[in-house]
Amino acid sequence: MIGRLQALLLCLALALTGAGTGQAAPVSSEMAQRAKACTGCHGERGRAAPDGYYPRLAGKPAGYLYEQLLAFRDGRRRYALMAHLLEPLSDRFLRDLAEYFASLDLPYDLPQPAAAPAAALERARQLVEHGDEARRLPACRACHGARLTGVQPAVPSLLGLPRDYLNAQLGAWRSGTRVARAPDCMAEVARRLAPEEVGALSAWLASQPVLVPAHPAPNLPKPLPLDCGGEPAAVAP
Ligand code: HEC
Ligand code: HEC
Repeated sequence: MIGRLQALLLCLALALTGAGTGQAAPVSSEMAQRAKACTGCHGERGRAAPDGYYPRLAGKPAGYLYEQLLAFRDGRRRYALMAHLLEPLSDRFLRDLAEYFASLDLPYDLPQPAAAPAAALERARQLVEHGDEARRLPACRACHGARLTGVQPAVPSLLGLPRDYLNAQLGAWRSGTRVARAPDCMAEVARRLAPEEVGALSAWLASQPVLVPAHPAPNLPKPLPLDCGGEPAAVAP
C-alpha cells in the first residue's frame, strides 16, 4: 500500500517533470506553480516557519540554492524524499528553481527565544563575531557576512533558520553526511567546534532577529579565511 506522503510526492514529481525537460526557461507565474511541489514542505513561497525544521529558501543566494539542489540530487546531501523529487530534473531546471526562490523578497518571522544558559549564548556570540584564534577557528561572520545574511553568490544566511535545522547541519558536517564541494571549509569549521558549542551556536543564531534589509551582501571586505569550493573569492574590488 502506498502511504499518503508517498502518493503526494508522486503527484508533486509529476507536476515538476513537465517543466524539467522543456527548453525555454519557464516564466515566473509558471515557476510559482511548479514550485508548489516544494512549498508544501518549505512554507508558502519558500518562507519556512520559525518553529519547524524545513529551511527557508526565499531570498537565499541563487548560487547557494543551486549548489544544494545538485547536492541532494547527486547524493552529497541526504534527504531521500527530496532526492526522489529532484532526480529526474535537469541542471537547467534546477537552476531556474534556484533563481526563482532567490528572487523572492519576503519578510521574516520573529525569532525563537534562545533556550540555553547565558554563558553558553555569550560564548556562541563571540565565536560568531570573533572566532577563536588559538584553535584556528575563523569567525562565522568572516564568511557569512558582517550581518550574517550571507554573501553572493553562494554563502547562505545564518539567520531565519530553525535551531533544530542548524544543529542538524553542523552535526551532518561533523559526521560527514553533508559534504560541500571541496575544499569543504564548513566541514573544517564544524569539526573544530566542541559539541556543546554547536548547540549554543544553533540556539544563539535561531534567536537573532533578521536585520532589514535581509539581502545577502554583494561581497566580503576581505578574502575568505579558508578556501571554500564552489565559492569564488568574492572580495570587494
Ligand atoms: C517532503 C518535504 C520536502 C519537499 C517536498 C522539498 N523539500 Fe527541500 N528540504 C526538505 C528538508 C527536510 C530539507 C533539509 C534537509 C537536511 O536536513 O539537510 C530540505 C532542504 C532543502 C534545501 C537546502 C536549504 C539550505 O538552506 O541549505 C533546498 C535548496 C531545498 N530543500 C529546495 C527544495 C526544492 C526546490 C523543492 C521542490 C523541487 C524541495 N526542496 C522540496 C524538505 C522538502
Ligand atoms: C571559511 C568560510 C566559512 C566560515 C568561517 C563559516 N562558514 Fe558556514 N558556510 C560557508 C559556506 C561556503 C557554506 C555553504 C556550503 C555549501 O555549499 O553547502 C556554509 C554553510 C553553512 C551552513 C548551512 C546553512 C544552510 O542553510 O543549510 C551553516 C549552518 C553554517 N555555514 C554555519 C556556520 C557557523 C555557525 C560558522 C561559525 C562557527 C560558520 N558557518 C563559519 C562558509 C563558512
